[in-house]
Amino acid sequence: NANGVLAGRRVVVTAGPTREPLDPVRYLTNRSSGRMGYALAAACAAAGAEVTLVSGPTALDVPSGVERVAVESAGEMYDAVMAAMPGADIFIGAAAVADYRPAEIATDKIKKSDGEASLRLARTRDIIAEVASAWPEVFTLGFAAETTNMEAAARDKRERKGLSMIAGNVVGPDKAFGRDDNELLVIWGEGEKRLAQASKIDLARDLVALIGERLACDSTA
Ligand code: C5P
Repeated sequence: NANGVLAGRRVVVTAGPTREPLDPVRYLTNRSSGRMGYALAAACAAAGAEVTLVSGPTALDVPSGVERVAVESAGEMYDAVMAAMPGADIFIGAAAVADYRPAEIATDKIKKSDGEASLRLARTRDIIAEVASAWPEVFTLGFAAETTNMEAAARDKRERKGLSMIAGNVVGPDKAFGRDDNELLVIWGEGEKRLAQASKIDLARDLVALIGERLACDSTA
């Protein structure tokens, strides 16, 4: 079973999009399918870990051996992650968390009127950055989905958020989001590795193997 590289480890994974409500019937969201996060949760469980998957709305089945906590908004995802983190060894942020939410949620359906309308947006909290700063001993893996300058943005994001490892990928209408395959540049403190175009299931296995290697290095350091 994937060599049990994560045997005895507790892992928290986020996956999927978030939904930021505007009123009782409308929300803002993105094109994340949740596939990468679900594949990672499954691969961690197969490697022997105890896995909590904090998931935004997706059409995917819960992988076997994984405990899923279903959430909708970024705020709910933040709360569920903070509740799941105590005792965790690894945090994987694969969710496409909304960066902004509507500043107010209308209690009643917003009525249309003639002419333009605008939305006031407020920032959401950065879940993975807060996890990395609150639990510095936890191994953190984040993703950097970029349309341009992927490598520089991924390096910068890893440092800025204080992550152990980041997986950069190029996204676009025909790349990554909502697809079964992807291509990643994985960067950590002392090295990097390019993972060629492959299914998200295969990439998840490779990522788990890399996490296992890094954890083994740390514990012998
Ligand atoms: O800054 P950016 O959104 O590109 O960073 C992506 C990484 O940060 C992903 O790992 C994502 O899950 C995580 N993230 C988060 N909370 C946010 C925004 C992003 O955990 N509010």
